[in-house]
Amino acid sequence: MPGIKGPSDYSHEPPRHPCLQINSKEPFNAEPPRSALVSSYVTPVDLFYKRNHGPIPVVDDIERYCLDITGLIQTPRKLYMRDVRMLPKYNVTAILQCAGNRRTAMSKTRKVRGVGWDVSAIGNAIWGGAKLADVLELIGIPKLTSSTQSGGMHVEFVSIDKCKEENGGPYKASIPLIQATNPEADVLLAYEMNGEPLNRDHGYPLRVIVPGVIGARSVKWLDSINIIAEECQGFFMQKDYKMFPPSVDWDNINWSTRRPQMDFPVQSVICSLEDVQSIKPGKVTISGYAASGGGRGIERVDVSIDGGKTWLEASRFQKTGIPYISDHESSDKWAWVLFEITVDIPHSTEIVAKAVDSAANVQPENVQDIWNLRGILNTSWHRVQVRVGHSNM
Ligand code: MTE
Repeated sequence: MPGIKGPSDYSHEPPRHPCLQINSKEPFNAEPPRSALVSSYVTPVDLFYKRNHGPIPVVDDIERYCLDITGLIQTPRKLYMRDVRMLPKYNVTAILQCAGNRRTAMSKTRKVRGVGWDVSAIGNAIWGGAKLADVLELIGIPKLTSSTQSGGMHVEFVSIDKCKEENGGPYKASIPLIQATNPEADVLLAYEMNGEPLNRDHGYPLRVIVPGVIGARSVKWLDSINIIAEECQGFFMQKDYKMFPPSVDWDNINWSTRRPQMDFPVQSVICSLEDVQSIKPGKVTISGYAASGGGRGIERVDVSIDGGKTWLEASRFQKTGIPYISDHESSDKWAWVLFEITVDIPHSTEIVAKAVDSAANVQPENVQDIWNLRGILNTSWHRVQVRVGHSNM
């Protein structure tokens, strides 16, 4: 593709914030310290987690950069940045969460394969760009279409990066056409993050944002969009990011028995305390994030200071001065909710958080019950141990 190339080595990587905890250097995978996540509702770009499967692409001529829209449509076309920018611009506040968030903790019960992540493979950003539904209308696919005349039912996004899982080919994923053409689903071709042009790590010049869905479907560095009959057959749709039961292991796995994971389940995490934290006896403010998939709001966050025997309800908030009400139009439905509660902790104990979404889905109690060999979607109750010391802390 003119104007952009996917390097085959790591000699052109962008600079990164020194605070990031690096989980893998090449490809670069890193997350911020957990305390940084709750210091603002909108996550600063340099502290936003970075999840890559290959070297970061290089744009050498933005004027020539364009993407091909092809497949089961009447008139394939090339789309330049100026074409995307001519469409109405939307700002959508949405989290991205890697399906592997909290994998390290799942691996502690039984080993799983994959890059280890603590609790910060998630961030909340304001994504600016054109709606995919408007882009598809440009090529003759009306809003709310589930199938094109020639049988197209899925929209595949193909990148330019080179991934070893694809044998040096590009990262790709797809979503159903009905979601892509639904303006209410807010699927974006984003060129901005928090009011600035996307940076290289996050998909410059153009990426997909699929709100409410695991981060793996929000393809960065777009090279082409294909309208296809069946879902994308790429590695990351068919041989990864699928949820298996605890009984399936690498000896008996049959990838074709499960569908690719799309929406993510309800999640909450305490960010103000480390896994094991020493504190003085007295008042402690416990804060963290909660989020659910599919645009479901957070109805409640429960916090326990006795390992889950009794519960207190935390306060929830998004923007200052505007009360957060799950499912209310003033609340950002694709974003996270921050929670906070101040409690008295007189002695060492286990502090736990669990969230309930607007469909009354609750996080599972134990990680063992949702263990899966790829270590995805660890949404079990989040637990931290506090050790209360009485002297010289
Ligand atoms: N797109 C491309 N082209 N290559 C990738 O490696 N990683 C995916 C997704 N899109 C990926 C990609 C995964 S698994 C996640 S969680 C998100 O991008 C991470 O986006 P971020 O790095 O902007 O946080």
